[in-house]
Amino acid sequence: MTPDLLEAGTQAREAYDERRSTATGKTASGGRAAAYGRVLKLGEPDFTHGVALYLDDITVSFDGFKALNKLSLTINVGELRCIIGPNGAGKTTMMDCITGKTRPDSGKAFFGSTIDLLRLTEPEIAQVGIGRKFQKPTVYEPLSVFDNLELALRADRRARASLFHRLSGEQRDRIGQVLTLIHLSQEHGREAGLLSHGQKQWLEIGMLLMQEPKLLLLDEPVAGMTDEETERTAELFLTLEGQHSLVVVEHDMKFVDQLTEGRKTVTVLHEGSVLAEGPLADVQNNEQVVEVYLGR
Ligand SMILES: Nc1ncnc2c1ncn2[C@@H]1O[C@H](COP(=O)(O)OP(=O)(O)O)[C@@H](O)[C@H]1O
Ligand SMILES: [Mg+2]
Repeated sequence: MTPDLLEAGTQAREAYDERRSTATGKTASGGRAAAYGRVLKLGEPDFTHGVALYLDDITVSFDGFKALNKLSLTINVGELRCIIGPNGAGKTTMMDCITGKTRPDSGKAFFGSTIDLLRLTEPEIAQVGIGRKFQKPTVYEPLSVFDNLELALRADRRARASLFHRLSGEQRDRIGQVLTLIHLSQEHGREAGLLSHGQKQWLEIGMLLMQEPKLLLLDEPVAGMTDEETERTAELFLTLEGQHSLVVVEHDMKFVDQLTEGRKTVTVLHEGSVLAEGPLADVQNNEQVVEVYLGR
């Protein structure tokens, strides 16, 4: 990547990070440096108890309206959890709480057994290992696929000092592995702006993976994808399961069925709390779930 492009890319990335951190009122660059110092002090998350994410009794009000109402949820280490629920159920608000974009009125949120997410800023939460994929892909379109991944790598706290250094062999290998995972090896030199909608989504997931998050939050990741892209995305998430914990919010039941393989737990949110939990077939037959989906 030329220094010009790299600089342009860095600026785009920082503008993007800044948009993400509006809730904390900090700029990303200052915030990130400060966050790194604190994260070093916080240490690595402790997953020895097998819990990746623990939400307890979380309430979020907007002008008196409870978007989340005593929400409790536990995600295990390496688990792939699908969350469904009608529009307005509070799914996105839940992700906003986990990532520090929205502060709950009450409740607890822990990453592993020691990291209290409610005491961290949005950039700090990203630094401790929680990655979030928004609904709209936000790749840097004038750059190539490879350069987007390189940019994500350089934005990572462990690589920050070497912004203008050449990539090491190990870093190139890592980019190569991610390109394979996201099915974009053949497109590595292509301008990201020329990719299909689905490919852009994969690229953004790849950019998240470059930072090796322990927990990945994916909000409607297959919206707007073709059937084939949707199927490949499910395959990708199934590959990531185990290595990462994944929370996937999705409306596409065929996709959820593929991800849960007929047995994994699905959580149904409704009016800001958990309405039902269990295998997809069970929750789909649950009378209360049927009622909220049909709006009776
Ligand atoms: N910033 C906000 N201000 C006011 N109301 C909000 C805000 N964000 C979300 N809400 C409301 O909270 C409820 C839950 O929204 P959301 O979490 O986006 O639901 P979902 O993602 O499940 O569709 C909705 O009724 C929505 O209108
Ligand atoms: Mg939503």
